[in-house]
Amino acid sequence: MDVDLTETERLRTLDQQHVWHPYTPTDAYLKAKPLVIERGEGVYLYDSDGNKYLDGGSSLGVNIHGHQRPELNEALAAQAARIAHTTLYGMTHPGAAQLAERLVKLAPEGIDRVLFLESGSSAVETAMKMAFSYWVFKGEPQRNKFVSMTGAFHGDTTGALSVGQMTILKNFYQPLLRPTSAFAQPYCYRCTLCTDNCTLACADTLEEVLEREGSEIAAVLVEPRVQNVSGMVVARDGHLARVAEIARRHGVLLIADELGTGFGRTGPMFACEADGVSPDILCVGKGLTGGYLPLAATMASADVFDAFRGDGKMLLSGHTFSGNPLAVAVALASLDLFEKDDVIRHGQSLGVVLTEELDRFREVPHLGDIRQCGMLAAIELVQDQQTREPFPWDLGVAVRITDRCRELGLIIHSAPSDTIVIVPPLAMTEAQLREMMGILLQATKEVVASL
Ligand SMILES: Cc1ncc(COP(=O)(O)O)c(C=O)c1O
Repeated sequence: MDVDLTETERLRTLDQQHVWHPYTPTDAYLKAKPLVIERGEGVYLYDSDGNKYLDGGSSLGVNIHGHQRPELNEALAAQAARIAHTTLYGMTHPGAAQLAERLVKLAPEGIDRVLFLESGSSAVETAMKMAFSYWVFKGEPQRNKFVSMTGAFHGDTTGALSVGQMTILKNFYQPLLRPTSAFAQPYCYRCTLCTDNCTLACADTLEEVLEREGSEIAAVLVEPRVQNVSGMVVARDGHLARVAEIARRHGVLLIADELGTGFGRTGPMFACEADGVSPDILCVGKGLTGGYLPLAATMASADVFDAFRGDGKMLLSGHTFSGNPLAVAVALASLDLFEKDDVIRHGQSLGVVLTEELDRFREVPHLGDIRQCGMLAAIELVQDQQTREPFPWDLGVAVRITDRCRELGLIIHSAPSDTIVIVPPLAMTEAQLREMMGILLQATKEVVASL
């Protein structure tokens, strides 16, 4: 491949002069030599210096079928030749009707309406407005509060941040946020509620919150099975079912945020399936278009939708690009690929390979915890294996590992508490997955040895 280094340097300079990067430390970025990703193919990313990387974070959890899938490219081009954008305000387009039908068929039983949006954060905000409005229409407008789990991440617009519980975000933005309540996350490695014999005591802490504040609560929000952004905190089987049972008994709505877990990441199409739970409201996005375009959806049960019927009632919510036809067309083609490539079964068999590969990390000094649910996994490193004390944060252990991975040809990300998160594209082959985990193991051992 011809590499134009001068052009790459020019782009880096332009970027550092004008682009403001999300969740990126400002000064460190301005001093760094940023990657310029120019092209993707399958599970690989190519930078403008001619280097090739495995896309080990699925480009923030969205890449399912691989980059540059001809079927998705063709669907996009065919839709662009018809219409690129039209609104869903008071009218429809063919793709919206077709995609809504297919999503309802795939979603847990009872989910039967789909409202399209463009990001996970807006899907969660819409779910919150939907739940609040539901209670207003039921004559209980005092239900304007939400409960979520400690460590939760539900997006980063201010409503979604209010129900997020990650300390760093909560502490910084507190003055802007609405009050919410929290119950304990299922972080077994650092759990102080149960000893070795898990009784799901973390889920039971929801009971106390609802006994205290239940009449003001509109809904409980939960990331089913895996808390993604806070470091792949994996709940035991039955956790979601327990949360759902408590929420139901107290008569509050259950919102499942499947942004991180949907579309086969944990094994089944949606993580709710594993515990047999049907939420009242389900938020999906990320892999909905196979990672091609921003599209998300807030889906609801007939009971929730029916509260909005009669007397000119409506949901006072929606965005300009809600249900954009290009994104919808790619989402339909992506669902076709799920069938054609048998993505769910392939992902499940790769999950077994991932378990084997994760086992090889047990010999790593300073290993704290290994967590996995299907094709989502994490390794957490600690200063002291006995006391589980974390490394001082300024040592930057996880960042050093992800930087070394990059030098070795793997793009992968870290989470708080020196945790490396593993989110491989579901289209990986077994050999590619083993190669990726081999790079991660080498980088981890090297960095740990250098401490
Ligand atoms: C569980 C969860 N909810 C919501 C979001 C927000 O999605 P978006 O970044 O598309 O706004 C994320 C993003 O990572 C997520 O993991």
